[in-house]
Amino acid sequence: MPRTQDELQRESGRMRTELCETLGIEFPIFAFSHCRDVVAAVSRAGGFGVLGALGFDAEQLETELAWIDEHAGGRPYGVDIVIPQRDAARPDEDRADLEERLRLRIPQGHRDFVRELLVQHGVPELPDGPVGNEMSGWTLSVARGQVETALRHDRVRLIANALGTPPSDLVDEIQRSGRLVAALAGNLRHAVAHREAGVDVVIAQGTESAAHTGDISSLVLWPQVVQAVAPIPVLAAGGIATGAHILSALALGTQGVWTGSLWLTVEEAGLEPVETERLLQATSADTVRTRSYTGKPNRVLRNAWTEAWAREDTPEPLPMPLQGMVTAEAIARSRRYPQRSQAVAIHSVGQAVGFMNEVRSCRGQIQSLVEGYFDALERLALLNDLDS
Ligand SMILES: Cc1cc2nc3c(=O)[nH]c(=O)nc-3n(C[C@H](O)[C@H](O)[C@H](O)COP(=O)(O)O)c2cc1C
Repeated sequence: MPRTQDELQRESGRMRTELCETLGIEFPIFAFSHCRDVVAAVSRAGGFGVLGALGFDAEQLETELAWIDEHAGGRPYGVDIVIPQRDAARPDEDRADLEERLRLRIPQGHRDFVRELLVQHGVPELPDGPVGNEMSGWTLSVARGQVETALRHDRVRLIANALGTPPSDLVDEIQRSGRLVAALAGNLRHAVAHREAGVDVVIAQGTESAAHTGDISSLVLWPQVVQAVAPIPVLAAGGIATGAHILSALALGTQGVWTGSLWLTVEEAGLEPVETERLLQATSADTVRTRSYTGKPNRVLRNAWTEAWAREDTPEPLPMPLQGMVTAEAIARSRRYPQRSQAVAIHSVGQAVGFMNEVRSCRGQIQSLVEGYFDALERLALLNDLDS
C-alpha cells in the first residue's frame, strides 16, 4: 500500500544525509529547473528546488526569487548560475559592444544554414523581425550581478555554478554570507579543481544527463568523485529517475541526487502540451549529445535540427558563446511557434526521459521517488534475510 505523506516524512530519517541536516531539508533530492513554480513546489514538498538563472538579468532574477520566497513555504532553495571561467567581455566593454564584436566573428554560412533549416521546416519568422539580443548570459558581469541578487534572499542557501570552477572571490563572498557553493563536474579533473577552490558541494554529473555534459557514465563517475574530493559532500547527477537510482547513488557514497530532466514534465513546469507529449513519448535512445546548441556538448532530444548539424556537409558548430548566438533566432522562433517547430526545436533532456511517461505534480514526483527508495531498500533487506 502506498505510504502517506506523513509516513514518508516520518521515515525520511532512513534517507536523510548530513547535507540534508546542513540545508534543513527532508529528502536529499535536488531539483534543477528554470521554472520558479517547480522550484517552490519541490522545496515545499521536502526536496531542494534550484532555480537556473541563465537567461534572467539581475532584475528579472530578483522578481523570480521574490516570487519563490513567497511560495516556497519558508523552505530553503538554491540558485544555479553560469559563471564563465574566461570572460567573453574585455575590461570595461559593455554588453552591446561585446555583442557587436562577437557578431562579426560569426560566418555568414552559419546564419544562412540556420535560416534555411527553419524555412525548410516551416517555422515562421518572428513578427518584430530577428532577435535583437543574442547573448543570454555567459559573461562574468552578468553572473556577478546574479550572485549579488541571490545573496539578497535569505532562503537561498546554496549557489551552484554550471560551468567550471567559480572564481575564488565569488566562492569567498558566497561562503562569507553563510551559504554553500556547489559546482558541477563531468570528470575527475573538474572535481579536483573544485576541491582545490574550496567549494562546499561537488555535483558529479554523468554523461546521461540533460544539457551540458561530459562523456563518463554516472555509475563510473560518482564513486570516483566521492573518493577524489572526500570529505566534501558529492551529489549524484545524470540519469536519476527512480527511487532505486537514489538508493544506488547513496550506496556509492554520495549524499543526495541532483536531478533536472524529471522536472520538465511535471504539472508545474508549464511546457506547451506538444512539448510535454514529445518528452512523454521519447525513449532513452532518443537523446544525443550535440555541439550545435551552445558550442559545448549538450544532451538534447534528437530531431531534424541535431541530424542536420551532424551531416558532413554542414558548418562546424562554433565555440561558445558564438554558437549560442547562431541558435538564438531558432530558439526564439520555436518558443513562439511551438506547434510548428518541433522538428527543429531544441529540447535539453537526458536519458532519464525514457522513465518520464506520465505527468505528475512535483509533490507526487517526490513522493514516488521516496517510495521507490524505500521499496528498493526493502528488496535489499529481503536479500539479507535470505542470506541469514
Ligand atoms: C532543460 C535543462 C536545462 C539545463 N540547464 C542547466 C543550466 O543552465 N545550468 C546547470 O548547471 N545545469 C543545467 N541543466 C542540468 C541540470 O542541472 C542537471 O545537472 C541535469 O539535468 C541532471 O541530469 P538528469 O537530466 O539526468 O536529471 C539543465 C537541465 C535541463 C533538463
